[in-house]
Amino acid sequence: MTLTDQSRAETYARSLADPDAFWLDQAQRLDWITAPTKAGDWSFDEKDFHVRWFDDGVLNVSANCIDRHLESRADQVAIVWEPDDPAEDPRRYTYAELHREVCRFANVLKARGVAKGDRVTIYMPMIPEAAFALLACARIGAVHSVVFGGFSADALANRMEDCGSSVVVTADEGRRGGKRVALKACVDEAAQIFAGIETVIVVRATGADVAMQDGRDVWYDDAAATVDTDCAPEPMAAEDPLFILYTSGSTGKPKGVVHSTGGYLLWAALTHQTVFDYRAPEVFWCAADVGWVTGHSYIVYGPLANGATTLMYEGVPNWPTASRIWEVVDRHQVATLYTAPTALRALMKEGDDFVTRTSRKSLRLLGSVGEPINPEAWRWYHDIVGEGRCPVMDTWWQTETGGHMITPTPDMMLKPGSATLPFYGIEPKLLDGDGRELTGEAEGNLVIMRSWPGQMRGVWGDEQRHFETYFRTFPGVYTTGDGARRDADGYYWITGRVDDVINVSGHRMGTAEVESALVLHTAVAEAAVVGMPHDVKGQGIYAYVTVNAGVDADDALVKTLRDWVRHEIGPIATPDAIQFAPGLPKTRSGKIMRRILRKIAEGDVSSLGDTSTLADPEVVEHLVANRVSSG
Ligand code: WT7
Repeated sequence: MTLTDQSRAETYARSLADPDAFWLDQAQRLDWITAPTKAGDWSFDEKDFHVRWFDDGVLNVSANCIDRHLESRADQVAIVWEPDDPAEDPRRYTYAELHREVCRFANVLKARGVAKGDRVTIYMPMIPEAAFALLACARIGAVHSVVFGGFSADALANRMEDCGSSVVVTADEGRRGGKRVALKACVDEAAQIFAGIETVIVVRATGADVAMQDGRDVWYDDAAATVDTDCAPEPMAAEDPLFILYTSGSTGKPKGVVHSTGGYLLWAALTHQTVFDYRAPEVFWCAADVGWVTGHSYIVYGPLANGATTLMYEGVPNWPTASRIWEVVDRHQVATLYTAPTALRALMKEGDDFVTRTSRKSLRLLGSVGEPINPEAWRWYHDIVGEGRCPVMDTWWQTETGGHMITPTPDMMLKPGSATLPFYGIEPKLLDGDGRELTGEAEGNLVIMRSWPGQMRGVWGDEQRHFETYFRTFPGVYTTGDGARRDADGYYWITGRVDDVINVSGHRMGTAEVESALVLHTAVAEAAVVGMPHDVKGQGIYAYVTVNAGVDADDALVKTLRDWVRHEIGPIATPDAIQFAPGLPKTRSGKIMRRILRKIAEGDVSSLGDTSTLADPEVVEHLVANRVSSG
């Protein structure tokens, strides 16, 4: 199926005009045990808040991603895995083999007592077993919660405790860019923090010698050798939870975003098919980690639901050389590459030669995700990587949305830096700070007027937080937390977060989380964290720190605090700059004036705005005079 501007506009209009007919029709993309007779049933009003899709439908996600393809493509490669080290051989699993592996994994979980509705944590490197584990949970109706392998033991423990997960699937070690990541050791540390960890299933990935605790830890190999290679898929209601994925917000701890079985899978499959114009058995490569929603929707669920060959890459974009991505493209004849602007900017700096010495003839389409793509990076991607032949799909969406929301489709008119137009069923609006709609060319808060099948269904264990976070500020609509501009053609240009969330290399980090980690250190009295422009990461983390009396605020402490945050949360939360501040700018009521802190971090000190409401205006002068540059 290819789309013209015309058919996209027509289909879009139909999706809004008669949503019930449109979505029941789309639902036929999936294999249902009981087909749904109802589409969306939802209300964003506080009194009657609910979101349900295909409520009376029954299906199994793993059967949709595997079993239903066995008749037509049992011998087609489902997953091709590229190892970290290019000298090693790739691994390939056909759909028939995927079926066997997933059934086996499901039976291992069952044998350890995992049942429908139980939460299983997955803390894995980028190896095929990570995908098997996700699909195995889906097969038996267990709810998976993937924790990115770069998060700390503390972060892992907190997430397991929050969703009451007693089982974790991990590996001895992970590998990234030639380095080892001690995953099993982190799980052991997490078990010291959260005593509820009862079962640890360990996949042998590097063969490292790791400690195994009797009765708690089991090698996956050993367990798999004793189970059957068939496992019947569990019939699930469309609204049963499929997974939880923790994501950072502007306040508090990360929240467990809950996604549904039917609506989520349909959204992942439909967007993957339409936005990338996917044609089986082409090789589709989403270069994300399965620890993020991008990996869930576009490495595993969307592609496999569509019978694709999906590529999983263990390593990083620039190792051993800045040619690696393009070499992987050539090695596996990748047709579509979907990656983040931060990776493109990093590779762009290394010079075109790393790209042009590879072929890339197999590429047909390119995708971008995670943060606004600057026009310069867009053009480089389009002109140098894609040789002007591959349209660039700049897909705007969020963990909460399950899949693409504002995105081009391949034969639309594109504008470098614009995510273009809303996808089917998505009705965006721009509101001013008071909630008034802005029409025509405008810039404001991006909100979504109605529900869509892939919408998150809740915050695990905290229904009120779901409503408060997304539906309180502007009543009756879903608030994205992003700002956007709409141009004369109706195209959207995402301007970035309007809340206290920082986007570091396409990953979300709450300023409050980094602040909490900093103040846990005995040297720190107070901390305020803001984003700052960073030429590769998009945004960097800038921390203002007030130390306790008697503490030396020196370079050694900068290093100590950076290591501290890295250990408390994970490397992605490491502050890029730490400025010691004798005081922070506060209003007379004690509220930290973040607007001023942001300006100083940006180096934009000529327009600090009104500082007359400050309790102590001299604090600002001191901060301006002692601003630090990143590093
Ligand atoms: C935030 C969501 C989408 C999956 C990966 C990140 C930003 C995402 C774009 C884009 C501009 C983008 C937004 C959004 N974002 N894609 N194409 N253009 N901004 O998921 O961690 O939930 O982060 O990423 O600010 O709110 P996430």
